[in-house]
Amino acid sequence: FKLYLIWCLGAFLSGSIPFGLLLVKLAGKGDVRAQGSGNIGATNVMRAGGKALGIATLLLDAAKGFLPVFIAKKFGFAPEFLAFVALAAVLGHVFTPWLRFQGGKGVATALGCVLAYHAPMVVPAFGAFLLCLLVFRYVSLGSVVAALVLLLTAMGFLGAWARLPVQEGMAQWPILAWALLVGLVIRKHSANINRLVQGTESKFWGSSRNV
Ligand code: G3P
Repeated sequence: FKLYLIWCLGAFLSGSIPFGLLLVKLAGKGDVRAQGSGNIGATNVMRAGGKALGIATLLLDAAKGFLPVFIAKKFGFAPEFLAFVALAAVLGHVFTPWLRFQGGKGVATALGCVLAYHAPMVVPAFGAFLLCLLVFRYVSLGSVVAALVLLLTAMGFLGAWARLPVQEGMAQWPILAWALLVGLVIRKHSANINRLVQGTESKFWGSSRNV
């Protein structure tokens, strides 16, 4: 059990590295938190620092979720436990101690975690994300819908093929971890949801109103 806790702490610390903030600063483009939506995630880094920095942030934020889950899996940790490693990494990103616990929204980090946890699980959520983005042009809407679809997938509603096989009678544990993770991601999007309802959310391309 101690090993589990240490592993989760490691995942939390991995998740806590604010790559978006660091990259924008290193590129000499100021504090990303003072620009656009104020978020430190890839979408806002793209607004503040351009496409390349945004993509780099997406990859690095995903990697910091991917690695702790991937390594835990390689070491043979029980699948029931892996979802909690994922939750710890996303918690690290959202409540990063280095920014007075004011971190990002956890989407890219969650993506990395799911890819390492059980890659097929990402398919329905990513599909939903792309569909929302292409049809409505809001990254935030895509993120919220994808998070909900991820939870449905974890619960087995979209077919058991995408759900990590767990021991008989243990399925509630990863579902609990994914539910907490999804709840956290959606909670962090509350300002986006308000703007979506009011029609003032910034679109990813085309006519965008500044947030
Ligand atoms: O992952 C964050 C995204 O869903 C929204 O980002 O900057 O528009 O709040 P942002």
